[in-house]
Amino acid sequence: MIIGVPKEIKNNENRVALTPAGAAEIRKHGHTLYVQTNAGVGSGFSDEDYRTAGATILPTIEEVYGIAEMIIKVKEPIAQEYNLIKENQLVFTYFHFASSEELTHAMIARKAVCLAYETVEKADRSLPLLVPMSEVAGRMAIQEGAHYLEKPLKGRGILLGGVPGVPPARVLILGGGIVGTQAAKMAAGLGAHVTIMDVSLPRLRYLDDIMPANVDTMMSNEYNIRDRIKVSDLIIGAVLIPGAKAPHLVTRDMLKMMRPGTVLVDVAVDQGGCIETCKPTTHENPTFIIDDVVHYCVANMPGAVPYTSTLALTNATLPYAIQLANKGWQKACRENIELQLGLNVVKGEVVYKGVSEAWNLPYTEVTDVLQTATV
Ligand SMILES: NC(=O)c1ccc[n+]([C@@H]2O[C@H](COP(=O)([O-])OP(=O)(O)OC[C@H]3O[C@@H](n4cnc5c(N)ncnc54)[C@H](O)[C@@H]3O)[C@@H](O)[C@H]2O)c1
Repeated sequence: MIIGVPKEIKNNENRVALTPAGAAEIRKHGHTLYVQTNAGVGSGFSDEDYRTAGATILPTIEEVYGIAEMIIKVKEPIAQEYNLIKENQLVFTYFHFASSEELTHAMIARKAVCLAYETVEKADRSLPLLVPMSEVAGRMAIQEGAHYLEKPLKGRGILLGGVPGVPPARVLILGGGIVGTQAAKMAAGLGAHVTIMDVSLPRLRYLDDIMPANVDTMMSNEYNIRDRIKVSDLIIGAVLIPGAKAPHLVTRDMLKMMRPGTVLVDVAVDQGGCIETCKPTTHENPTFIIDDVVHYCVANMPGAVPYTSTLALTNATLPYAIQLANKGWQKACRENIELQLGLNVVKGEVVYKGVSEAWNLPYTEVTDVLQTATV
């Protein structure tokens, strides 16, 4: 198969979809690989590194999209990329269709095969291509939150871990999945007092078992959230309902109940956000303030630590990319249910329920599409 790796062009996105080690692996399987010039430079990989691994470097993004049967990238295509995507081209990347109607319509119109990292799903319902980025974002959420709690950045001026004789900050984490767990570990490690809320009792039980003594767990409901936000210094939004918009757990009126300088980090912003007042921001301008409450809502948090993120992401995506390249998307998706669940939009048809529900679009069973697909 002919595979293309474009340079990411979304604001401050320095990750790349393939490392030179991954490039060598793909070449070992006999595929042709084109990498756009400087695609890896933000993650510390030079064109020469990719050339040595057997890739051909192309000077423009148009050439990469123009030649490739499969595009592997990191972020969802942005408007400038829509028209580069060809009919029948396989695009393997994060899409987050449920949070962008424009992107959904654009990909339907391009008649491409859109296989979304975020909905590839294992039998135990875990999302293997979200996990590494969630791990990064969860750990970063505390690092960023602690930073914005500083007074010059309009925070409450409280040190997360306190000092002897001064109590630590209180951190409230909404959602005890991957992001929430990693955030809790970091916050607890820094000495903060942490509360994790989730709607899953088995998950709360598990967290209660593995977390240190400065972490407690609580059922997530409006009553408990209203109660805890009054005393929390840092609130992390980390809920996920797979393939659908996040529910607004913190509503506009609740901001008035928080203390001035409280910091909100809505990691779930890429799925619409679980804090009503959060709107996506970028690393260039990560925060805004409403009612004296600092909102940090960067939709691509791992983009700020591209070295760690690129390695973590490609560790997880490469085995799937190789299956797709070796077998073609049709056979790979028929034989591997995990990959099949990643199909969201195929040649103009929406084949993922959460996406059709989000934008009220007709839904086609993925198995129907696979039955009729050739190869
Ligand atoms: N901003 C970024 O850069 C970035 C990076 C990675 C992940 N994310 C996002 O972070 C979010 C969390 O991802 P994850 O990997 O931790 O997901 P996850 O599935 O591991 O965890 C989500 C948790 O939310 C819980 N939940 C569902 N409804 C809830 C509710 N009403 N109250 C409390 N908890 C509830 C679930 O039970 C689950 O434990 C996702 O939206 C993901 O897309 C964002």
